[in-house]
Amino acid sequence: MNRLIVVSNRVNPPSGEGEETVGGLAMALAAALREYSGLWFGWSGKTTPQFTGQLNLEKVGGVTAATVDLEEVDLDEYYNGYANKTLWPLFHYRTDLAAYDRAFGTGYERVNRRFAETLAPLVEPDDLIWVHDYHLIPMARELRRLGVKNRIGFFLHVPWPAHQVFINLPRHRQLVEAMFDYDVVGFQTQEYRQAFEEYVLSEAGGEQPAPGILKAFGQTLNVGAFPIGLDAVDFARMLKSARARRMRDLMTACTVFRHLIVGVDRLDYSKGLEERFLGFERFLNENPDMRREVLMLQIAPVSRESVEAYQDIRGRLDGHSGRINGEFADVDWNPIRYVNKNYRRDELGGIYGAARVGLVTPLRDGMNLVAKEFVAAQNPEDPGVLILSRFAGAARQLDQALLINPNSAEEIADALKRALAMDKVERIRRWTALFENVQREDVTAWRDAFVSALAGVEEKEEALAG
Ligand code: F6P
Repeated sequence: MNRLIVVSNRVNPPSGEGEETVGGLAMALAAALREYSGLWFGWSGKTTPQFTGQLNLEKVGGVTAATVDLEEVDLDEYYNGYANKTLWPLFHYRTDLAAYDRAFGTGYERVNRRFAETLAPLVEPDDLIWVHDYHLIPMARELRRLGVKNRIGFFLHVPWPAHQVFINLPRHRQLVEAMFDYDVVGFQTQEYRQAFEEYVLSEAGGEQPAPGILKAFGQTLNVGAFPIGLDAVDFARMLKSARARRMRDLMTACTVFRHLIVGVDRLDYSKGLEERFLGFERFLNENPDMRREVLMLQIAPVSRESVEAYQDIRGRLDGHSGRINGEFADVDWNPIRYVNKNYRRDELGGIYGAARVGLVTPLRDGMNLVAKEFVAAQNPEDPGVLILSRFAGAARQLDQALLINPNSAEEIADALKRALAMDKVERIRRWTALFENVQREDVTAWRDAFVSALAGVEEKEEALAG
């Protein structure tokens, strides 16, 4: 078996104890690496006055984590700048929030080059290199410049936007050209793959000689959709833990005679949190008889706090939750419990298990693993109902959820009413289909499909050569 080198901005080696927080990428990569005596390379999360390329090595659960510190200016221009002020808003269709600053682009290139220069000496001839997410799109180009000939794959965890949205990015062509230095590029859904193909064919003069193969910039690239899933086996184990059960009992006890509606998201403007609060407010207005029967718990740990748009959304959510609670609360009840704290994954499992409704309303989302975790945590004999935005990648697989347009407060309010009134037979029927999908299309299926596509590239080349 080849060694697998995973490259991602954040590196969180598996603790195996349920401590991981809401970020889906780290959880998935930890699971993906479990069966490989692999290497996980990326940023240490720390800064240093001057970049040295000095590696911090840590061996956890059979995985070697190799990380480097970055300079403060790298953080400003690469992570807060190009990644989170330019690409993130643009890829989530928030063209109004996307900032285009030449220094961000320069910092992005520099950090990708620094990562490549640090990683290249660690690469052995048969290693498969798997790069993740929008922070690291030019990694393959930098590695190729250093003479790395290994097969290199890239997986984009976020949406790939429609052509007309993407071309708002200055030097968009250059970014796409860099993607052709990979052997395989994977997207979460067929829709994102098609949007990428559309760009290559219509904007970059590319060709598609066969399905899943693109030719452009003098190179050939394999593309595919690989929907990411849960580490279903590990999540099921976590749900049985004492911590998960304690949390479920606690939440059940504090919602006696009430239905718990739950949302768990990083505090991000792409997650449709404002729209969720407004939809819930509408539900309360339209259904006075049901007010005291529900409690909405929104867990939203703060994220990317140095970016202004995140400070703004936080302020607005404080306003909405305060207003709604002020208007509807009673001495012994308040409709929204809004919590900015981070919880362990096993505790979240317990909370999902006590909820009657999972409310997942992103305006755009590459996949959304919270939706899948909510499904996995339900009691098969009395499952809750998932309300899911049709703009989450997960909606393609979880089509037995109540799919809604998160921009419509009416649709959210109607779906809440329907979910709360849904009889057990329908809840079980819908949940059975959802659960079957979550179990089948899990993180192992995702990893194996991608890794074999990447390994298959070599076989193809060898077959051609032979
Ligand atoms: O794909 C986006 C993503 O990397 C998620 O997978 C992850 O949950 C989140 O962003 C983490 O963001 P950050 O590393 O900026 O905290």
